[in-house]
Amino acid sequence: MTRVPTAVLISGRGSNFSALHAASLAPDYPVAIALVVSNRADAPGLSLARAAGVPTAVIEHKAFGRDRAPFDAALDATLRDAGIALVALAGFMRVLTEKFVAAWQDRLVNIHPSLLPSFPGLDTHARALAAGVRLHGATVHLVRAEVDSGPILAQAAVPVLPGDTEATLAARVLAVEHRIYPMALAALASGHAPPAPSADAALLNPAA
Ligand code: GRF
Repeated sequence: MTRVPTAVLISGRGSNFSALHAASLAPDYPVAIALVVSNRADAPGLSLARAAGVPTAVIEHKAFGRDRAPFDAALDATLRDAGIALVALAGFMRVLTEKFVAAWQDRLVNIHPSLLPSFPGLDTHARALAAGVRLHGATVHLVRAEVDSGPILAQAAVPVLPGDTEATLAARVLAVEHRIYPMALAALASGHAPPAPSADAALLNPAA
């Protein structure tokens, strides 16, 4: 079976990387996690990747100054050099330029800890608690230039329970993130004719 060579981009803990990597160990999983890229050398997720035997690259955004374009160009070159066909953002805390997003359109996917379009941006769990919503959750979506927007591939909802704190709610959401991200990535990859680094990918969500 040909697996779609996929990069996971992280900035921190890396639990979604671990969930994706664990899923990729199944013989019939259509994705190979071929590279982990971090914009921070101290991201704990890098150690998880190394322990799992996954190649890693560090591209420190600080080295590129204030302009986002050179960082994104270096990222793009790293991904292409590694023969990457799909890119999964997993706690990657850098806004990508319109040019990068366009170059990877429909091959760039993100997980966000809310039921989009509610609560784009940061501090989603605190904002969900403050808003008094009874359902919260996670969304996997194709990336578009506007942050936390784009066609939705998968969502999972969790209840907001009496007495929830930001931490308890975050943990409940994270558990479903780890379920839906591998599922959505597999669905996206199955719609590809790999390797497809220069071809337009088919969208999986027929409603998208
Ligand atoms: C997750 O909650 C993800 O939805 C958000 O950032 C967090 C990353 O967690 N984009 P981890 O690094 O995968 O553990």
